[in-house]
Amino acid sequence: MCGIVGYVGDQQAAPVLLDGLARLEYRGYDSAGVAVFGDQGLEVAKAKGRLQVLSDLIDGGRAIHGNVGIGHTRWATHGAPSDVNSHPHMSRSGRIAVVHNGIIENYAELKAFLMGEGVEFASETDTEVVAHLIEYFYKKDNGDLLSAVNRVLHRLEGAYALGILSADDPDQLIAVRKDSPLILGVGQGENFLASDVTAILRYTREVIYLEDGEMALLTPQGVRCFDHLMRPIEKALCHVDWEIDAAEKGGYEHFMFKEIMEQPDAIRRTVSPRIKDGRVHFEDFGLSDQDIREMSRMYIVACGSSYHVGMVGKYNLERMLRRPVEVSLASEFRYMDPIVDEKTLVVVISQSGETLDTMAALREAKRLGAKVLSIVNVMGSSIARESDVVLYTWAGPEISVATTKAYSTQLAVLDLLGLYFAQRLGTLPEEEYQAILDSLLHLPEQIEQVLEQREQIQYLASQFFNHSSVFFIGRNCDYALGLEGSLKLKEISYIHSEAYASGELKHGTISLIEEGTLVIALATYAKLFDKAVSNVVEVRTRGAEVLALTTEDHRADMEGIGAAGVVTVPHSHPVVLPSLGVVPLQLFAYYVALMRGCDIDKPRNLAKSVTVE
Ligand code: AGP
Repeated sequence: MCGIVGYVGDQQAAPVLLDGLARLEYRGYDSAGVAVFGDQGLEVAKAKGRLQVLSDLIDGGRAIHGNVGIGHTRWATHGAPSDVNSHPHMSRSGRIAVVHNGIIENYAELKAFLMGEGVEFASETDTEVVAHLIEYFYKKDNGDLLSAVNRVLHRLEGAYALGILSADDPDQLIAVRKDSPLILGVGQGENFLASDVTAILRYTREVIYLEDGEMALLTPQGVRCFDHLMRPIEKALCHVDWEIDAAEKGGYEHFMFKEIMEQPDAIRRTVSPRIKDGRVHFEDFGLSDQDIREMSRMYIVACGSSYHVGMVGKYNLERMLRRPVEVSLASEFRYMDPIVDEKTLVVVISQSGETLDTMAALREAKRLGAKVLSIVNVMGSSIARESDVVLYTWAGPEISVATTKAYSTQLAVLDLLGLYFAQRLGTLPEEEYQAILDSLLHLPEQIEQVLEQREQIQYLASQFFNHSSVFFIGRNCDYALGLEGSLKLKEISYIHSEAYASGELKHGTISLIEEGTLVIALATYAKLFDKAVSNVVEVRTRGAEVLALTTEDHRADMEGIGAAGVVTVPHSHPVVLPSLGVVPLQLFAYYVALMRGCDIDKPRNLAKSVTVE
C-alpha cells in the first residue's frame, strides 16, 4: 500500500526521499511524488507510474533543492492512478503539502464544507481535503500549524498516517497517525518520518513508534511528540537491529527467490533460541499455566497467507491439544458476532503487523474480553503493540509481496506454541512431543535438501507455465498447504488456480477437469496417501495432467499411476511436513511467474501490507 517518507536535516532532501521511496516500492504503488522546501519555495513533483519516472523528472532529486521534504508512493483508492491524484496534495495557497496513507472516510462531507467556503479541488482524492482543511484552520489559528493540524485530526474519520510540510514553517515537519503505521527516525542533526522502517534504515536505527492519535514535530535538532490534546509526551527510543543488507537483493534477481532461499536460516533463528533442555521455552510469556488450562476456545485470525498458516495450525493444534481451534478470516471475524469471552484465546497472525482487517479483529477480540496472542514479524508494529502476548517470527525484513519466509516462520512458531500448550495441558505423549520437537530442529537442513531440487522444479515449471487454470488438491494438512500453493501461483503468475479438499472434487469441481487440465496433487500425509492415489486416478481418467508432491518413499507409487512429475520432501513428523511441502510450491510459483515474464516482487494490484479495509 502507500508509502511515506519525510526528511528534515542538512542533506539535500529530494535524493533522500527518493532513496526511501525506492525501499518502499515493494509495498505496491502506482504513482509517486515529493514536495521539498528550498530557495525556490515549496516545490512539488509527481508522476504516475514507477518511481523511476519521478526520479527522471527531477534528475534523481538533483533538480529540486532544499533540506526538508516529504515523499509518497500511492496505491490508488479514491481516484484513478494519475499525476494529479498522486501525493503530495497542496492546500489552495500552495503553501501546505500533505502526504497520506489510509482512507478519510468522511471526506465527502468535509469536501462539501470546504467547497462551500470557496475551495476548489484539483484531484479526486480523499487526501486533498486534509491539505485544505489544515490551511482553513491555520488561518483561523493565526498561523499555528501544529494547532491547526490538531483541529483537523478531531474532524477526520477513518485511518491515516500524515506527513505535513508548510512553506510558512519550513524548518519542520509534522507527523500524525491513526490506524495506519508511521514511525519517526531519529538521527544526528537530521530526523525522518516513514511508514516503514526499511525506508530509513540506511540513515538511522533509532526509531520512535507513534501511537494512534499522537502527533510529532520534527526539526533538524529533535523530535517532540504530543498526545491528541497537544500535551507533550515522552516516547521511548527503540533500536532496530535488522541488517541493512537484509532488505537488499544481495545478488539475487528477485527478493522472492532470495527469501525462499533464506528460509532455513530464518527458521533456525525462530526456533533454536526457543528450545531449552528439550522443551519449548518462551521468554516473558504473558499467559500463565492456569490461563492455558482454563482456555476454553481458541481462534486463529489472519488474512491471506497468514490465514493459510492458521489453516495448517488448526489441524496441528487440534492434534496436539485435543481442543477445538477455529480459524477465521480477519475480514470476517469482526462482522460474524464471534463467540468470544475471557476464556478465549485469539491467536492473530500477521507478517507486517499492520494489516487493517487483522488489527480490527484483534480489537474486537479484546473488546469481547479475549486474550490476544500475536505472531508477528515486524517489531513494534501496531498488532504487536496491542497484543497481550507477542511471539516474533525472526524472519528479517520480507520485501517480496508474495510471502515465503514469513509463512514458514509463522508455521514454525505455531508448532512451537502447540508444543508449549500441550506440555501444560498434558495432551501429548512424551515420545510424540519429542518427535515433533526433533522434526522442528531438523527442519532447516531438510528445507535445504528440498531447495536442492530447484532445477527439477524449474524444469516442471517450464513444462506447465502456459496452462491457464490449475487445481491444487489434498486432504487434511495437504489441503491447507494447497490453499497456500494456489495463492502463491495466482498472485505472482496471474494463472487462475484453486485449491480443493480432494474429497470435495466429486461434489462439483470434477466437472471442470478435462483433457490437459493441470492438477497439483499434494500427498505428503502418509495416513491418507491411498486416498490421494484414488483422487489422482480419478482426475487422470478424465484427462488431467498431474504433478504430485509426496514423500520420498511414495515417489514410485505416484509415478506408477501416471503423474507427469513427482517432487518429494524428506520424511518428517506429519505436524512439520507442511513446512517442507510449501517450499516446492513456492519455487514452482516463482519459476512459472519467471517464465511468464511477470513482475514477481511487485505483482499487479497487490500491496505488501494491506492497511485499508
Ligand atoms: C501472500 O503472499 C500475501 N502477501 C498476503 O496474502 C498476506 O499474507 C496477507 O496480506 C496478510 O498480510 P500480513 O501477514 O502482513 O497480515
